[in-house]
Amino acid sequence: MNMVDLIAKKRDGGVYAPEEIAFIIRGYTDGSIPDYQMSAWAMAVFFQGMTPQETAELTLQMAESGEQLDLSPIPGCKVDKHSTGGVGDKTTLIVAPLVAAAGIPVAKMSGRGLGFSGGTIDKLESFPGFQVELSRDQFFQQVRDAGLAIIGQSGNLTPADKKLYALRDVTATVEAVPLIASSIMSKKIAAGADAILLDVKVGRGAFMKTLDQANELAQAMVQIGHNVGRQTVAVISDMNQPLGFAVGNALEVKEAIAVLSGQGPRDVEDLALTIGAHMLLLAGQETELEAAYQRLQTMLQNGKALAKLAEMVQAQGGDPAFVYEPDRLPQAAYTRQLLASRSGYLSQMDAEKIGQAAVLLGAGRVTKETPIDLTVGILLNNKVGDAVEKGGVLAEIHANDLGKAEQAIKKIESALEIVDQSSSTQRLIYDVVSAS
Ligand code: URA
Repeated sequence: MNMVDLIAKKRDGGVYAPEEIAFIIRGYTDGSIPDYQMSAWAMAVFFQGMTPQETAELTLQMAESGEQLDLSPIPGCKVDKHSTGGVGDKTTLIVAPLVAAAGIPVAKMSGRGLGFSGGTIDKLESFPGFQVELSRDQFFQQVRDAGLAIIGQSGNLTPADKKLYALRDVTATVEAVPLIASSIMSKKIAAGADAILLDVKVGRGAFMKTLDQANELAQAMVQIGHNVGRQTVAVISDMNQPLGFAVGNALEVKEAIAVLSGQGPRDVEDLALTIGAHMLLLAGQETELEAAYQRLQTMLQNGKALAKLAEMVQAQGGDPAFVYEPDRLPQAAYTRQLLASRSGYLSQMDAEKIGQAAVLLGAGRVTKETPIDLTVGILLNNKVGDAVEKGGVLAEIHANDLGKAEQAIKKIESALEIVDQSSSTQRLIYDVVSAS
C-alpha cells in the first residue's frame, strides 16, 4: 500500500477497505505519512465524503491510536456527554452533578475553551484549588466514592485526532462532516463511554451554521455510535444567541449554581434537564423522557444536584463553601453597562460576536497556550424576543481593564439588534436524533 495511491483513490471517489484506513491513520500517527500527504487526503475526503462504514472505521482507528480508558471497573452504565461547542454553554457543569445525583456514574474528561467557545475545564478552575488533573486511580476512586469526577483530557488520548485536527485547522478542511464526526466520536470512545449523548449546536455561535449541516453531523455521529456498539443520541440545540445570560468562566459557574439551586435561567435549565433526561434513558434508568425529566427536576428542587457539585469540588481540592456562597467566587475589578439606545424588541443577539467580546475581555484564548482571566465576562439582561426600553441595561461587562471593556461594549452593541415590531422568540431544541 502507498499513500499516493490512497489519496488518488479518494480523489476519484473510491471507497476504502478497513485496512487502507488503518494504514493511513497508523502512518500519520507514527510520522511515516507526512503532513503534506495527509493535507491532500483531508481535502479529498472534504470533497468526496466517506460512507458510514468508512467513517466508523476511521473513528475506531483514531480511537485506537493512543491510550484508551477502560471504565469497566466502575459499576453501572457510563454515559458521556459532549457539546460541539458554544457561547455561554455551561450545561456540563449542571448535567454532570444532576445525573450523578440520580445515580448515573459520571467519569468525564472535558476540554478547555478555544476561540470564542468556552470549555468546562477552564470554568471549573474558577473554584480556587480545583484540580483538573487526577491520576487514573484517583479518578476511578472518586467516581466510585462520589459518583462524579470531571478532569482534563489525558495527553495520550487519540493522538491521531490531535495531529489531524491541527492540520485541518490550517488547511481549510475542518468543515467536513466525516472528519468532524470521527474526531468527536473517537475521543468519546477512547474515553470509555458505554453510551454517548451529543449536544449538537447550530447557529451563529456554533460550528454548524445551518440546521441541515447540524442534522447531517448528528446523523453521522449517531450512525458511528451505532456501528461501534455505543448507543448514541444527539440533541440539536440553538446557538444563535448565547445560552442563558452569563458568558465568561466564573460568571457561568455562578449561573450553573443558580440552575442547580432551581433559580437559573429557563433556557439553561430546560436544556440541562432535556440532556440529562436523555442520559437517564440511555443508562436504562428510565423508559419515558417525561418521567426522566421530572425526576431530574426534583433533584434541582431538593438540593441533591447542588450537593453533588459541592461533593465533587471538595473531592478535587476546592472549597465546597463556594458552591453555597457563589458570590465568593473570583470577581473582576470593574463593571460597565451597555444601555439600549432605543426602545423596541430584541430581534438578534449574535452568539459568535458576544463570544468574541468575551475573548476581548480575556475570558477565552486565541491559541491553546494563551492564559485566560476567569473573572471577566458578560451578563446579558435579555433573550431574543424581549421588549427593551431606551436607557435600560442590555448587558453588564465584567472587566479588569477599562480599555478592553470599551472594546467589548462596541462588539456587543454590534451583536444586538433592536426592532420596532415584536419578533418571535428563538427555539431552544430543534431535533433529537437517534439510531431508531
Ligand atoms: N470538535 C472536535 O473535537 N473535532 C472537530 O473536528 C470539530 C469540533
